[in-house]
Formats: sequence, C-alpha cells, structure tokens
Amino acid sequence: MEQTLAYNDKVIRQFTVMTVVWGIVGMLVGVYIAAQLYWPALNFDIPWLTFSRLRPLHTNAVIFAFGGCGLIATSLYVVQRTSGVPLFAPRLASFVFWGYQAVIVLAVITLPLGITQSKEYAELEWPIDILLAIVWVCYAIVFFGTIAKRKVKHIYVANWFYGAFIIAIALLHIVNNLAIPVSWTKSYPIYAGAVDAMVQWWYGHNAVGFFLTAGFLGMMYYFVPKQAARPVYSYRLSIVHFWALISIYMWAGPHHLHYTALPEWAQSVGMVFSLVLLAPSWGGMINGIMTLSGAWHKLRTDPILKFLIVSLSFYGMSTFEGPLMSIKTVNALSHYTDWTVGHVHAGALGWVGFITIGSLYYLIPRLFGRTSMYSTRLVEVHFWIATIGIVLYIASMWIAGVMQGLMWRAFNDDGTLTYSFVEALKATYPYYAVRLLGGVLYLSGMLIMAYNTWKTIFLPQRESEPVRAAAQQTA
Ligand code: HEM
Ligand code: HEM
Repeated sequence: MEQTLAYNDKVIRQFTVMTVVWGIVGMLVGVYIAAQLYWPALNFDIPWLTFSRLRPLHTNAVIFAFGGCGLIATSLYVVQRTSGVPLFAPRLASFVFWGYQAVIVLAVITLPLGITQSKEYAELEWPIDILLAIVWVCYAIVFFGTIAKRKVKHIYVANWFYGAFIIAIALLHIVNNLAIPVSWTKSYPIYAGAVDAMVQWWYGHNAVGFFLTAGFLGMMYYFVPKQAARPVYSYRLSIVHFWALISIYMWAGPHHLHYTALPEWAQSVGMVFSLVLLAPSWGGMINGIMTLSGAWHKLRTDPILKFLIVSLSFYGMSTFEGPLMSIKTVNALSHYTDWTVGHVHAGALGWVGFITIGSLYYLIPRLFGRTSMYSTRLVEVHFWIATIGIVLYIASMWIAGVMQGLMWRAFNDDGTLTYSFVEALKATYPYYAVRLLGGVLYLSGMLIMAYNTWKTIFLPQRESEPVRAAAQQTA
C-alpha cells in the first residue's frame, strides 16, 4: 500500500524547510532596512550594509527565496496528489532544488557587493540569470511531465494556476533580462529609454500577477479546501477566475509608469485593465472564502484555517487598493510615497506570507510523518503576533504615505511650496518606528514557526499513529 502510493517527497521536504529558513533571512533583512530608515547610522559606513544594497537583497530573498521555495514545494506536492502519480524525473527535481538554492546564495553574495542590473526585482546579473533560466526550465519539465503522465483525466484547477505561473515567469525572466554582457559582472539591457521602462514594468507587474498572485492562488485552490475539508465553493467560478486573471494581468503594467515618458494612451490602457482586474481578483477571493460555507465554526479553533482565510481577506484588500492606486489622479498622490510600500506589504505579508505559512503548517506534519504540528498553540500565537505586525506595518505606511503626498503638493498663495522635503521626512519618522515594530512582530512569528517546525521534525512522534500513508492518499 505504502509502496504503490509512494510519492517523491524528498525534494518537497527540502524546499519546505528552506521556505522557513529563507523567510527568516529575508524578513530579518527587511527589519534591518526598516531600522535603517529610522536610524540611518545603522549602515556603519560599510558599503555592503547600505540601504541601497540591502533593499534588493530583501526583495529578492522574500519574493524569490521565501515565496519561490514555498511555491515550488507546494506545486510539486499538489501536482502529485492531484495527478495520482509520483513526480516525473525525481533526479531532475533534485537538480531544481540545488540549482535554485545556488541562485539564491549567489544573490546573497552579489547584491551586497553592489553587483546589479539596477532593474527592480530583476537585479541579478546575466550569469545568474542564465543559471536561473536553466533551473526554471527543468522545474517546468518536472511539473508538466508529472501532469503528462497523470492517472486522473481531469487537470485540477490548482495546477492550471501553478502552470500559468511557471510558463509566465519563464517568459518574463527571459525577455526582461535580454542584455549584452561586457564582463562577468556587468551587462547592458538591449532595450533603451521608454521601451526599457515599459519592458521592465511589464515584467515587474506580471511578477506580481504571476509570481505573487497566480502561483499562490494555486496554493489557495488546494490547501483551503483540504484544511476546511470542503469542496471548492464553485469550480465553474474557478475556471472563469483563471482565464480572466491571466488574460487581464498582462496589460496592466503601465500603471507603474503614470506621468512618465511612456505614451499617454499606454498609461490609460494600463489604468483601464487594472480597474477591470478587480473583478477576477474578487471573484477568486470570494470563491476561496466561500469554500468555508458550512464550516465557519472551524475558524474558531483551527489556527491554520485562520492563516488561510485571513490571507484571502488581505488578497481582497490589496486587489481593491491596487486598482484604486492605478487611477491616474489617485496615483498622482500615492506614487513615490510610503502608501505604495503599505500596498506592497498588505499583499506581501498578508496574502503571500499568510497563504504560504498556512499551507506549510498543513504540509509539515504530513511530510515528516506526524499527525500534527508539535504545538497548535504556537501556531495560534504565530497567527496573532503576525496579524498585529501586519496591521501596524500597513496602517503606519498608509498614514505616512497619504501625509507625504499631501505635504509634497501643498502650495502657498504665492505659489511656493508649503513644506520642504525634509519637513515631510521628519513628519514620517514616528511611522517608521511603528513599521519597524510591526516588522519585528512579523519576524518573531516566523521564529516561532521555525521552532515549531524543528520540534515537529525532530521530536519523537508523540501520538503513535504515523500519518504518512494517510497523508499520501489525500489527492
Ligand atoms: C518582517 C517583515 C518585513 C519587513 C520589516 C519589511 C520591510 C521592508 C522595507 C523597510 C522596505 C523598503 C521600503 C522603502 O524603500 O521605503 C521593503 C520593501 C519591499 N518589501 Fe518588505 N518587509 C518585510 C517582508 C516582506 C515580504 C514577506 C515580502 C514579499 C513576499 C516583501 C516585499 C517587499 C517588496 C516587494 C518591497 C519593495 C516595495 C516597493 O518598491 O514599493 N517584504 N520591505
Ligand atoms: C488587482 C490587483 C492589483 C493592482 C491593479 C495593483 C496596482 C498597483 C499600483 C497602481 C501600484 C503603484 C504603482 C506606482 O505608483 O508606482 C502597485 C504597486 C505594487 N504592487 Fe500592486 N496591485 C494589485 C495587487 C497587488 C498584489 C496582490 C501584490 C502583492 C502580492 C502587489 C504588489 C505590488 C508591488 C510589489 C508594487 C510595487 C512595485 C514597485 O514600485 O516596486 N500588488 N500596484
């Protein structure tokens, strides 16, 4: 029985553990740069500790290392269970793990050294980009190979989202990183001027759409029904959600380039598509939340479900806020301010972070043959600490952002500016302190998770019955 149902879970265990590890590293750097914005002297005049170098390290570590490991772990877990077959090419999967970790380590070394393409979220230089492209293609082969040899006729909707994420990221990564190398550590993009900006934000926005959204929706469509023990609220809606989301996201990128040299019409197209994007985003959110119909009472006692459902509320919040910020007149206020940073972290900490953490709490005991996490109480504590952390983070950034925008645009009767830039900066200081506190809380939650994970894996099973076999039957 055990043998016929044996899935290849080694690589999933590896990616799962590294998700927790890189989450802590990335968020630690986030806390450090948040502290630097409050106490600039914290860079100690050491070049590789400066904000400019650590900021991209933070974004790369949290998005691609934490988020990426979580996405690869869950996608390879889900695709096996929903296809009813073990992983295709397990040795290639092992290469994907080691290759992906190598990319992350190279990022951790090169970014603080100041080796960068200076393109946001695409900072890594060309040799690392090539390695990543190879690893990604191997990942695609493992994932789609497993789907190709599936025993179940139907391809479950979570796999559609994961599949779109894998294909889109390959496309975005390759097109945006086309560059001419001049040395091992320096290259120049093949695009110039406004075209370069457009390609960069076509990439940047779709990194949000396909990395930070579509992949995690794949997680949602598998782990929310599993943890709630209910079927997806509407399977039909999930299919509409999929096609609407992937066809609209591709066109919204120009909302990052309002009031720039980009042609006016392109900016307007970006704005309109962003507004339309509200519909599929909320359709998906409602589908996820309503999956709990008839099982709402479970929210009271199940902290894993709390993580999963609250993540959907943050998804709804950030996908309401995003279309709002894409309206040109609103963007005139929000752009360059901390409002954007607040929006980013509502999505990042609330949606991406929580859906990943919830899914991992579901996965860890099953992957390591345990009946549950070492301590459910600690999962609950993690949930509350992290939730308070997010609220402090995003509320402070919203207030700071709107305040900055209003102060920058305030005029006196004689046409001079009412406030100097430094006055606005000074007024922001208290909010930076609150954000720092929020970040510390969120990071503390991750440390609790690491402790709980460690105990779950290494403490002898307290309940006698191992669940690996049972877990493997869950398709
Ligand atoms: C402990 C948790 C975290 C803290 C304290 C933190 C802190 C920060 C800080 C201080 C910045 C720079 C803001 C600025 O330039 O003014 C930043 C930027 C950013 N962080 Fe985080 N962060 C955390 C977690 C995360 C996570 C989990 C993600 C993604 C999954 C994330 C994604 C980003 C992104 C995308 C940016 C760039 C924002 C922009 O360009 O507008 N962060 N973060
Ligand atoms: C309907 C969905 C969404 C729309 C229409 C949208 C729209 C926007 C807009 C208008 C901006 C500000 C651009 C600027 O002024 O520079 C922005 C920034 C950003 N959003 Fe969203 N957003 C959406 C959902 C999300 C979600 C769910 C996440 C994260 C998980 C996210 C992550 C980001 C990031 C990282 C940035 C900062 C980019 C940068 O400047 O570095 N967005 N978004």
